[in-house]
Amino acid sequence: MENFKMTHPKPRMNNQIPGFFFADPALIQKTLLHWYNTHHRHLPWREGCDPYRIWVSEVMLQQTQVKTAVPYFLAFVARFPTLGDLARADLEQVLKSWEGLGYYARARNLHKAARQVVHQMEGRIPERFSDFKALPGVGDYIASAVMSMAFNQIHAVVDANVKRVLARLLCLDIPVNQSSVHNRFKAIADTLVDRTDPGGFNQAFMELGALVCTPAAPDCGSCPLAHSCLALAESRVSAFPLRLKPKKIPCHRISTGIVIKEGNLLVTRRKLDGLLGGLWEFPGGKRKNKESAEDACIREIKEETGLDVRIVSFLTHVRHAYTHFKIEMDVFYCDYISGDVVLNGPIDHQWIAHENIHRLAFPTANRKFIPLIDPSEKNPGIKPA
Ligand code: ADE
Repeated sequence: MENFKMTHPKPRMNNQIPGFFFADPALIQKTLLHWYNTHHRHLPWREGCDPYRIWVSEVMLQQTQVKTAVPYFLAFVARFPTLGDLARADLEQVLKSWEGLGYYARARNLHKAARQVVHQMEGRIPERFSDFKALPGVGDYIASAVMSMAFNQIHAVVDANVKRVLARLLCLDIPVNQSSVHNRFKAIADTLVDRTDPGGFNQAFMELGALVCTPAAPDCGSCPLAHSCLALAESRVSAFPLRLKPKKIPCHRISTGIVIKEGNLLVTRRKLDGLLGGLWEFPGGKRKNKESAEDACIREIKEETGLDVRIVSFLTHVRHAYTHFKIEMDVFYCDYISGDVVLNGPIDHQWIAHENIHRLAFPTANRKFIPLIDPSEKNPGIKPA
């Protein structure tokens, strides 16, 4: 990096964007698109420009890394090849295809939006930015990505990769994790986006961030935009991007029960909105202060399902991190004592055979202990009296 820096001139000044100096936008566009043509990864959503496939991919990629998204994307478009197929599917099928990807509101919104397009727009994905953006789950990012990549419209996409590249290119002292300044990044990106190939430019910008201008150890020596990079010229690449100190995330203690009755396991379905909405889970909930894990399990099951249960044995302890909090979960086998299910919170329940559990979509924290469940060993309901 040091040698490289010495052989490159300081970026040329440009004051087209007030307050910022950087090299000629036309040069950046041309260089970046040229680099992209030869260096881009062959990703399944980049084959052709089917707006539906691009839409699905961008929804997945909004919170998920490319290598995780690829198998999910392939399975999703194999199961729901067209928008019509998605609209006709049950939400449960869609959630099952999303199981493990997290941020399930993305799947629920995509499904809802597909139905809206089919029923109100004759099945055609709207080409007008504002119409598309009005669909459930479609914000500025998704709308800009789909409109630029599928319909060649001039809208810049701004994701974490783009912000990092811009911050370094322009020495921007704007924290990338402060949502209130997102619009400043957006305004700069909109100025920079290529007018003739906005979709290609957007892909290229994100690709540069993913492959070269990486968060740690950026490969400035092979960066096509090195000639334009202010941070490199000032030997301050590692100082960018700026980040606000993340808040400490809380940890919730959860108790969960595997209630077994006549060989079947009780599962409940979470309400459709909110965290993990629409997914199935084993009943339980947060421990109160000074409450034992066992007491919390019995109380939560009673509150959520109306059933009286008794703890039989401890199965396991599970840790899981969500974006804004962590959980520590104790899982118990429980003996059904009495009562009929009366739901308070969950929207549905099933007594399901162990071999059918895989048919339902569960949160990852549940999937961590599901393989350990052995109902024949522990089920007091099927033990001889
Ligand atoms: N991240 C977000 N959108 C992407 C895309 N289309 N290709 C690669 N990474 C991405």
